[in-house]
Amino acid sequence: MKRVAILGSTGSIGTQALEVISQNPQHFTVEVLTAHNNADLLIEQAIQFQPNTVIISNKEKYLYVQQSLDKYMIKVFAGEEALAQVVEMDSIDIVLGALVGYSGLIPIINALKHGKPVALANKEVLVVAGQLVNKLSHQHNAAILPVDSEHSAIFQCMAGEFEYGNSIEKLFLTASGGPFRGYTQIQLQSVTKQQALKHPNWDMGAKVTIDSASLMNKGLEMIEAKWLFGLDAKQIEIIVHPQSIIHSAVQFFDGSIKAQMGLPDMKLPIQYALSYPQRVPSTFPRFSFWDYPQLTFEKPVIENFRNLHIAYEAIAKSGNMPCIMNAANEVAVQAFLHDKISFLSMSGLIEKTMQHISYIAQPSLDDYIHTHNESIAYAQSLL
Ligand SMILES: NC(=O)c1ccc[n+]([C@@H]2O[C@H](COP(=O)([O-])OP(=O)(O)OC[C@H]3O[C@@H](n4cnc5c(N)ncnc54)[C@H](OP(=O)(O)O)[C@@H]3O)[C@@H](O)[C@H]2O)c1
Repeated sequence: MKRVAILGSTGSIGTQALEVISQNPQHFTVEVLTAHNNADLLIEQAIQFQPNTVIISNKEKYLYVQQSLDKYMIKVFAGEEALAQVVEMDSIDIVLGALVGYSGLIPIINALKHGKPVALANKEVLVVAGQLVNKLSHQHNAAILPVDSEHSAIFQCMAGEFEYGNSIEKLFLTASGGPFRGYTQIQLQSVTKQQALKHPNWDMGAKVTIDSASLMNKGLEMIEAKWLFGLDAKQIEIIVHPQSIIHSAVQFFDGSIKAQMGLPDMKLPIQYALSYPQRVPSTFPRFSFWDYPQLTFEKPVIENFRNLHIAYEAIAKSGNMPCIMNAANEVAVQAFLHDKISFLSMSGLIEKTMQHISYIAQPSLDDYIHTHNESIAYAQSLL
Protein backbone atom coordinates (compact mmCIF):
# COMPACT_ATOMS: atom_id res chain seq x y z
CA MET A 1 0.00 0.00 0.00
CA LYS A 2 1.51 3.37 -1.02
CA ARG A 3 0.54 6.48 0.94
CA VAL A 4 0.34 9.38 -1.52
CA ALA A 5 0.65 13.14 -1.02
CA ILE A 6 -1.06 14.93 -3.90
CA LEU A 7 0.22 18.49 -4.30
CA GLY A 8 -2.46 20.22 -6.40
CA SER A 9 -5.32 17.75 -5.84
CA THR A 10 -7.93 20.17 -7.20
CA GLY A 11 -6.33 20.48 -10.65
CA SER A 12 -6.68 18.37 -13.78
CA ILE A 13 -3.83 15.98 -12.83
CA GLY A 14 -4.79 15.99 -9.15
CA THR A 15 -8.42 15.02 -9.77
CA GLN A 16 -7.38 12.29 -12.23
CA ALA A 17 -4.90 10.97 -9.66
CA LEU A 18 -7.76 10.69 -7.17
CA GLU A 19 -9.75 8.71 -9.77
CA VAL A 20 -6.78 6.35 -10.13
CA ILE A 21 -6.51 5.98 -6.35
CA SER A 22 -10.24 5.39 -5.87
CA GLN A 23 -10.07 2.60 -8.47
CA ASN A 24 -7.13 0.96 -6.67
CA PRO A 25 -7.87 1.15 -2.93
CA GLN A 26 -5.80 -1.99 -2.36
CA HIS A 27 -2.68 -0.25 -3.78
CA PHE A 28 -2.94 3.42 -2.80
CA THR A 29 -4.22 5.58 0.01
CA VAL A 30 -4.31 9.39 0.27
CA GLU A 31 -2.17 10.94 3.00
CA VAL A 32 -2.10 14.62 1.95
CA LEU A 33 -4.20 16.82 -0.32
CA THR A 34 -3.40 20.42 -1.26
CA ALA A 35 -5.22 23.21 -3.08
CA HIS A 36 -4.66 26.89 -3.69
CA ASN A 37 -8.06 28.56 -4.20
CA ASN A 38 -10.58 25.81 -4.74
CA ALA A 39 -11.55 25.30 -1.08
CA ASP A 40 -14.91 23.66 -1.85
CA LEU A 41 -13.38 20.92 -3.96
CA LEU A 42 -10.59 20.39 -1.43
CA ILE A 43 -13.17 19.94 1.35
CA GLU A 44 -15.20 17.51 -0.79
CA GLN A 45 -12.04 15.49 -1.61
CA ALA A 46 -10.95 15.48 2.04
CA ILE A 47 -14.33 14.16 3.21
CA GLN A 48 -14.23 11.42 0.56
CA PHE A 49 -10.58 10.33 0.95
CA GLN A 50 -9.99 11.12 4.65
CA PRO A 51 -6.32 12.15 4.35
CA ASN A 52 -4.13 12.79 7.39
CA THR A 53 -3.52 16.44 6.37
CA VAL A 54 -4.82 19.05 3.93
CA ILE A 55 -3.16 22.31 2.95
CA ILE A 56 -4.90 25.32 1.47
CA SER A 57 -2.07 27.50 0.24
CA ASN A 58 -4.24 30.63 -0.02
CA LYS A 59 -4.30 31.65 3.66
CA GLU A 60 -7.54 33.62 3.29
CA LYS A 61 -9.42 30.34 2.86
CA TYR A 62 -7.96 28.66 5.94
CA LEU A 63 -10.84 29.29 8.38
CA TYR A 64 -13.45 28.10 5.91
CA VAL A 65 -11.58 24.84 5.23
CA GLN A 66 -10.71 24.32 8.89
CA GLN A 67 -14.30 24.83 10.07
CA SER A 68 -15.72 22.64 7.30
CA LEU A 69 -13.43 19.75 8.30
CA ASP A 70 -13.69 20.34 12.04
CA LYS A 71 -15.61 17.17 12.81
CA TYR A 72 -13.16 14.93 10.92
CA MET A 73 -9.75 13.69 12.08
CA ILE A 74 -8.01 15.74 9.39
CA LYS A 75 -5.28 18.30 10.11
CA VAL A 76 -5.65 21.58 8.22
CA PHE A 77 -2.80 24.03 7.51
CA ALA A 78 -2.47 27.05 5.25
CA GLY A 79 0.15 28.97 3.32
CA GLU A 80 3.18 28.39 1.13
CA GLU A 81 5.41 27.30 4.00
CA ALA A 82 2.98 24.62 5.09
CA LEU A 83 2.84 23.41 1.47
CA ALA A 84 6.64 23.17 1.37
CA GLN A 85 6.87 21.41 4.74
CA VAL A 86 4.05 18.90 4.44
CA VAL A 87 6.12 16.67 2.12
CA GLU A 88 8.44 15.90 5.05
CA MET A 89 5.84 13.74 6.83
CA ASP A 90 7.19 10.26 7.65
CA SER A 91 3.91 8.69 6.63
CA ILE A 92 4.23 9.77 2.97
CA ASP A 93 5.58 7.10 0.59
CA ILE A 94 5.35 9.13 -2.64
CA VAL A 95 4.66 12.75 -3.57
CA LEU A 96 2.68 13.57 -6.71
CA GLY A 97 3.83 16.97 -8.01
CA ALA A 98 0.70 18.32 -9.73
CA LEU A 99 1.09 22.02 -8.94
CA VAL A 100 1.35 24.38 -11.85
CA GLY A 101 4.41 26.41 -12.86
CA TYR A 102 7.10 27.65 -10.49
CA SER A 103 4.83 27.17 -7.43
CA GLY A 104 5.93 23.50 -7.30
CA LEU A 105 9.67 24.16 -7.07
CA ILE A 106 10.24 24.50 -3.32
CA PRO A 107 7.84 21.69 -2.24
CA ILE A 108 9.46 19.28 -4.72
CA ILE A 109 12.98 20.27 -3.69
CA ASN A 110 11.98 19.68 -0.07
CA ALA A 111 10.43 16.29 -0.90
CA LEU A 112 13.66 15.18 -2.61
CA LYS A 113 15.78 16.46 0.29
CA HIS A 114 13.71 14.21 2.56
CA GLY A 115 14.26 11.20 0.33
CA LYS A 116 10.68 11.02 -0.98
CA PRO A 117 10.15 9.63 -4.47
CA VAL A 118 8.36 12.19 -6.64
CA ALA A 119 5.87 11.41 -9.40
CA LEU A 120 6.33 14.61 -11.38
CA ALA A 121 3.69 16.17 -13.62
CA ASN A 122 4.78 19.72 -12.80
CA LYS A 123 7.43 19.93 -15.56
CA GLU A 124 8.32 23.56 -14.78
CA VAL A 125 10.23 22.32 -11.70
CA LEU A 126 12.78 20.64 -13.99
CA VAL A 127 12.72 23.52 -16.46
CA VAL A 128 13.53 26.08 -13.76
CA ALA A 129 16.19 24.15 -11.86
CA GLY A 130 16.84 20.81 -13.60
CA GLN A 131 20.49 20.58 -12.63
CA LEU A 132 19.85 21.21 -8.94
CA VAL A 133 16.78 18.97 -8.82
CA ASN A 134 18.73 16.08 -10.42
CA LYS A 135 21.58 16.58 -7.97
CA LEU A 136 19.20 16.39 -4.99
CA SER A 137 17.46 13.35 -6.44
CA HIS A 138 20.82 11.51 -6.66
CA GLN A 139 22.16 12.79 -3.32
CA HIS A 140 19.07 11.67 -1.40
CA ASN A 141 18.31 8.58 -3.47
CA ALA A 142 14.85 9.95 -4.23
CA ALA A 143 13.56 8.92 -7.66
CA ILE A 144 11.81 11.29 -10.04
CA LEU A 145 9.12 9.35 -11.91
CA PRO A 146 7.73 11.19 -14.92
CA VAL A 147 3.98 11.73 -15.26
CA ASP A 148 3.95 13.84 -18.43
CA SER A 149 2.66 11.37 -21.04
CA GLU A 150 5.66 11.79 -23.36
CA HIS A 151 8.19 11.32 -20.59
CA SER A 152 6.26 8.42 -19.12
CA ALA A 153 6.38 6.86 -22.61
CA ILE A 154 10.16 7.29 -22.77
CA PHE A 155 10.53 5.98 -19.22
CA GLN A 156 8.46 2.91 -20.13
CA CYS A 157 10.61 2.35 -23.24
CA MET A 158 13.72 2.55 -21.06
CA ALA A 159 12.53 -0.15 -18.64
CA GLY A 160 15.18 -2.89 -18.69
CA GLU A 161 17.58 -0.81 -20.82
CA PHE A 162 19.37 1.54 -18.38
CA GLU A 163 20.27 -1.45 -16.18
CA TYR A 164 22.37 -2.85 -19.03
CA GLY A 165 23.95 0.46 -20.00
CA ASN A 166 21.92 0.68 -23.23
CA SER A 167 22.05 4.39 -23.85
CA ILE A 168 19.73 6.58 -25.88
CA GLU A 169 20.94 7.80 -29.27
CA LYS A 170 17.90 9.96 -29.90
CA LEU A 171 14.44 10.73 -28.56
CA PHE A 172 11.36 11.39 -30.65
CA LEU A 173 9.15 13.63 -28.54
CA THR A 174 5.67 13.66 -30.06
CA ALA A 175 3.40 16.71 -30.11
CA SER A 176 -0.23 16.90 -31.14
CA GLY A 177 0.46 20.32 -32.72
CA GLY A 178 -2.31 21.86 -30.59
CA PRO A 179 -5.38 23.72 -31.86
CA PHE A 180 -3.36 25.89 -34.29
CA ARG A 181 -1.53 23.18 -36.22
CA GLY A 182 -1.16 24.31 -39.82
CA TYR A 183 -2.02 27.96 -39.05
CA THR A 184 -0.04 30.69 -40.83
CA GLN A 185 1.55 33.69 -39.05
CA ILE A 186 -1.33 35.85 -40.33
CA GLN A 187 -3.96 33.46 -38.96
CA LEU A 188 -2.12 33.28 -35.62
CA GLN A 189 -2.27 37.08 -35.26
CA SER A 190 -5.98 37.04 -34.48
CA VAL A 191 -6.51 33.80 -32.54
CA THR A 192 -8.49 34.14 -29.29
CA LYS A 193 -8.07 32.62 -25.87
CA GLN A 194 -11.31 30.65 -26.39
CA GLN A 195 -9.72 29.00 -29.45
CA ALA A 196 -6.43 28.46 -27.64
CA LEU A 197 -8.18 26.84 -24.68
CA LYS A 198 -9.75 24.16 -26.93
CA HIS A 199 -7.11 21.46 -27.15
CA PRO A 200 -7.97 18.83 -29.78
CA ASN A 201 -6.90 15.75 -27.76
CA TRP A 202 -6.33 16.59 -24.09
CA ASP A 203 -8.49 18.19 -21.38
CA MET A 204 -6.01 20.00 -19.12
CA GLY A 205 -5.54 23.05 -16.85
CA ALA A 206 -5.50 26.51 -18.49
CA LYS A 207 -1.72 27.15 -18.27
CA VAL A 208 -0.64 23.90 -19.94
CA THR A 209 -3.42 24.24 -22.54
CA ILE A 210 -2.16 27.68 -23.62
CA ASP A 211 1.42 26.36 -23.53
CA SER A 212 0.29 23.55 -25.84
CA ALA A 213 -1.29 26.00 -28.27
CA SER A 214 1.87 28.16 -28.38
CA LEU A 215 4.15 25.08 -28.48
CA MET A 216 5.94 26.41 -25.37
CA ASN A 217 4.73 23.19 -23.76
CA LYS A 218 6.87 21.19 -26.19
CA GLY A 219 9.82 23.47 -25.43
CA LEU A 220 9.30 22.89 -21.70
CA GLU A 221 9.02 19.15 -22.33
CA MET A 222 12.22 19.11 -24.39
CA ILE A 223 14.04 20.67 -21.40
CA GLU A 224 12.28 18.27 -19.02
CA ALA A 225 13.42 15.31 -21.16
CA LYS A 226 16.99 16.59 -21.24
CA TRP A 227 17.18 16.55 -17.43
CA LEU A 228 15.18 13.37 -16.86
CA PHE A 229 17.16 11.26 -19.30
CA GLY A 230 20.57 12.99 -19.21
CA LEU A 231 20.59 14.06 -22.86
CA ASP A 232 21.86 16.86 -25.00
CA ALA A 233 19.00 18.92 -26.46
CA LYS A 234 20.33 18.04 -29.95
CA GLN A 235 19.39 14.40 -29.29
CA ILE A 236 15.71 15.32 -28.95
CA GLU A 237 13.61 15.61 -32.10
CA ILE A 238 10.08 16.96 -31.95
CA ILE A 239 7.58 15.20 -34.20
CA VAL A 240 4.05 16.48 -34.74
CA HIS A 241 1.68 13.51 -34.44
CA PRO A 242 -1.88 14.87 -34.48
CA GLN A 243 -3.60 11.70 -33.21
CA SER A 244 -1.60 11.64 -29.90
CA ILE A 245 -1.45 7.83 -29.93
CA ILE A 246 2.33 7.36 -30.00
CA HIS A 247 3.32 9.19 -26.83
CA SER A 248 7.03 9.27 -27.71
CA ALA A 249 9.80 6.97 -28.89
CA VAL A 250 13.41 6.14 -28.06
CA GLN A 251 16.11 5.26 -30.60
CA PHE A 252 18.94 3.21 -29.10
CA PHE A 253 22.56 3.23 -30.28
CA ASP A 254 21.97 0.14 -32.45
CA GLY A 255 19.28 2.07 -34.39
CA SER A 256 16.34 0.15 -32.91
CA ILE A 257 13.35 2.30 -31.96
CA LYS A 258 10.91 1.57 -29.14
CA ALA A 259 7.68 3.58 -28.91
CA GLN A 260 4.92 3.58 -26.30
CA MET A 261 1.36 4.03 -27.44
CA GLY A 262 -2.19 4.20 -26.14
CA LEU A 263 -5.22 6.46 -26.06
CA PRO A 264 -4.60 10.01 -24.82
CA ASP A 265 -5.55 9.53 -21.17
CA MET A 266 -3.40 10.97 -18.36
CA LYS A 267 -4.69 8.42 -15.87
CA LEU A 268 -2.39 5.78 -17.33
CA PRO A 269 0.92 7.69 -16.86
CA ILE A 270 -0.28 8.88 -13.43
CA GLN A 271 -1.01 5.30 -12.38
CA TYR A 272 2.29 3.99 -13.80
CA ALA A 273 4.29 6.63 -11.89
CA LEU A 274 2.44 5.86 -8.64
CA SER A 275 2.68 2.07 -8.96
CA TYR A 276 6.22 1.91 -10.45
CA PRO A 277 7.99 -0.50 -10.78
CA GLN A 278 4.81 -2.62 -10.75
CA ARG A 279 1.94 -2.20 -13.18
CA VAL A 280 -1.50 -2.51 -11.66
CA PRO A 281 -4.67 -3.46 -13.56
CA SER A 282 -6.94 -0.71 -14.89
CA THR A 283 -10.32 -0.37 -16.54
CA PHE A 284 -9.22 2.60 -18.72
CA PRO A 285 -10.61 2.41 -22.29
CA ARG A 286 -8.41 0.24 -24.54
CA PHE A 287 -6.84 1.36 -27.83
CA SER A 288 -8.06 -0.29 -31.02
CA PHE A 289 -5.93 -0.22 -34.19
CA TRP A 290 -9.13 -0.35 -36.26
CA ASP A 291 -10.23 3.06 -34.87
CA TYR A 292 -6.92 4.58 -36.05
CA PRO A 293 -6.12 3.14 -39.49
CA GLN A 294 -3.72 6.04 -40.10
CA LEU A 295 -1.14 7.50 -37.74
CA THR A 296 0.52 10.56 -39.28
CA PHE A 297 3.70 12.54 -38.58
CA GLU A 298 4.80 16.08 -39.54
CA LYS A 299 7.70 18.43 -38.91
CA PRO A 300 6.86 21.33 -36.56
CA VAL A 301 6.85 24.72 -38.32
CA ILE A 302 9.33 26.52 -36.06
CA GLU A 303 8.99 29.84 -37.97
CA ASN A 304 5.33 30.04 -36.90
CA PHE A 305 5.90 28.92 -33.32
CA ARG A 306 8.85 30.97 -32.02
CA ASN A 307 8.50 29.52 -28.54
CA LEU A 308 10.08 26.25 -29.67
CA HIS A 309 13.10 28.13 -30.97
CA ILE A 310 13.22 30.17 -27.72
CA ALA A 311 13.24 27.00 -25.62
CA TYR A 312 16.14 25.50 -27.63
CA GLU A 313 18.02 28.79 -27.16
CA ALA A 314 17.34 28.80 -23.41
CA ILE A 315 18.61 25.27 -22.89
CA ALA A 316 21.66 25.89 -25.09
CA LYS A 317 22.64 28.74 -22.72
CA SER A 318 21.41 26.75 -19.70
CA GLY A 319 22.29 28.20 -16.24
CA ASN A 320 19.37 30.40 -15.14
CA MET A 321 18.16 31.05 -18.72
CA PRO A 322 15.38 28.39 -18.71
CA CYS A 323 14.27 29.83 -15.35
CA ILE A 324 14.00 33.32 -16.92
CA MET A 325 12.14 31.88 -19.90
CA ASN A 326 9.72 29.99 -17.66
CA ALA A 327 8.95 33.02 -15.48
CA ALA A 328 8.36 35.27 -18.49
CA ASN A 329 6.15 32.61 -20.04
CA GLU A 330 4.06 32.41 -16.83
CA VAL A 331 3.49 36.18 -17.06
CA ALA A 332 2.78 35.96 -20.81
CA VAL A 333 0.20 33.18 -20.41
CA GLN A 334 -1.65 35.01 -17.61
CA ALA A 335 -1.59 38.23 -19.67
CA PHE A 336 -3.00 36.38 -22.70
CA LEU A 337 -5.70 34.77 -20.54
CA HIS A 338 -6.65 38.24 -19.24
CA ASP A 339 -6.75 39.75 -22.75
CA LYS A 340 -3.73 41.99 -22.08
CA ILE A 341 -1.60 40.71 -24.95
CA SER A 342 -2.15 38.83 -28.20
CA PHE A 343 -1.21 35.21 -28.81
CA LEU A 344 1.89 36.08 -30.87
CA SER A 345 3.06 38.82 -28.48
CA MET A 346 3.74 36.18 -25.84
CA SER A 347 7.01 35.17 -27.56
CA GLY A 348 8.24 38.79 -27.76
CA LEU A 349 7.65 39.27 -24.04
CA ILE A 350 9.64 36.12 -23.25
CA GLU A 351 12.53 37.08 -25.54
CA LYS A 352 12.80 40.60 -24.12
CA THR A 353 12.90 39.24 -20.57
CA MET A 354 15.59 36.71 -21.54
CA GLN A 355 17.67 39.53 -23.02
CA HIS A 356 17.27 41.77 -19.95
CA ILE A 357 17.81 39.58 -16.87
CA SER A 358 21.41 38.85 -15.78
CA TYR A 359 22.72 35.48 -16.83
CA ILE A 360 24.16 33.13 -14.18
CA ALA A 361 26.01 30.05 -15.42
CA GLN A 362 25.95 27.98 -12.20
CA PRO A 363 22.94 29.14 -10.18
CA SER A 364 22.28 28.18 -6.56
CA LEU A 365 18.74 27.72 -5.24
CA ASP A 366 18.79 31.34 -4.04
CA ASP A 367 19.86 32.45 -7.53
CA TYR A 368 16.90 30.59 -9.07
CA ILE A 369 14.48 32.19 -6.60
CA HIS A 370 15.96 35.63 -7.23
CA THR A 371 15.99 35.11 -11.01
CA HIS A 372 12.36 33.98 -10.98
CA ASN A 373 11.17 36.99 -8.96
CA GLU A 374 13.21 39.45 -11.00
CA SER A 375 12.00 37.96 -14.30
CA ILE A 376 8.34 38.05 -13.19
CA ALA A 377 8.68 41.71 -12.17
CA TYR A 378 10.44 42.67 -15.42
CA ALA A 379 8.00 40.77 -17.67
CA GLN A 380 5.06 42.38 -15.84
CA SER A 381 6.61 45.83 -16.35
CA LEU A 382 6.54 45.21 -20.11
CA LEU A 383 2.78 44.67 -20.22
N1 LIG B 1 -3.46 18.43 -17.14
C1 LIG B 1 -2.76 17.58 -17.87
O1 LIG B 1 -3.32 16.73 -18.57
C2 LIG B 1 -1.25 17.62 -17.84
C3 LIG B 1 -0.53 16.75 -18.65
C4 LIG B 1 0.86 16.74 -18.56
C5 LIG B 1 1.50 17.59 -17.68
N2 LIG B 1 0.78 18.44 -16.92
C6 LIG B 1 1.50 19.34 -15.98
O2 LIG B 1 1.00 19.08 -14.67
C7 LIG B 1 0.99 20.29 -13.92
C8 LIG B 1 -0.43 20.52 -13.40
O3 LIG B 1 -1.26 20.74 -14.52
P1 LIG B 1 -2.86 20.80 -14.39
O4 LIG B 1 -3.37 20.83 -15.78
O5 LIG B 1 -3.31 19.74 -13.47
O6 LIG B 1 -3.04 22.25 -13.72
P2 LIG B 1 -4.33 22.84 -13.06
O7 LIG B 1 -5.54 22.11 -13.48
O8 LIG B 1 -4.27 24.31 -13.28
O9 LIG B 1 -4.11 22.55 -11.48
C9 LIG B 1 -3.09 23.15 -10.75
C10 LIG B 1 -3.15 22.76 -9.29
O10 LIG B 1 -2.18 23.53 -8.58
C11 LIG B 1 -2.83 24.39 -7.61
N3 LIG B 1 -2.15 25.69 -7.67
C12 LIG B 1 -2.22 26.63 -8.64
N4 LIG B 1 -1.45 27.68 -8.34
C13 LIG B 1 -0.89 27.42 -7.14
C14 LIG B 1 0.00 28.15 -6.29
N5 LIG B 1 0.47 29.36 -6.60
N6 LIG B 1 0.36 27.58 -5.11
C15 LIG B 1 -0.10 26.35 -4.77
N7 LIG B 1 -0.96 25.62 -5.52
C16 LIG B 1 -1.32 26.15 -6.71
C17 LIG B 1 -4.28 24.48 -8.05
O11 LIG B 1 -5.10 24.77 -6.92
P3 LIG B 1 -6.58 25.43 -7.06
O12 LIG B 1 -7.23 24.78 -8.23
O13 LIG B 1 -7.21 25.02 -5.76
O14 LIG B 1 -6.43 26.90 -7.17
C18 LIG B 1 -4.50 23.08 -8.63
O15 LIG B 1 -4.70 22.17 -7.58
C19 LIG B 1 1.49 21.39 -14.85
O16 LIG B 1 2.84 21.61 -14.65
C20 LIG B 1 1.25 20.81 -16.23
O17 LIG B 1 2.15 21.31 -17.19
C21 LIG B 1 -0.57 18.48 -16.97
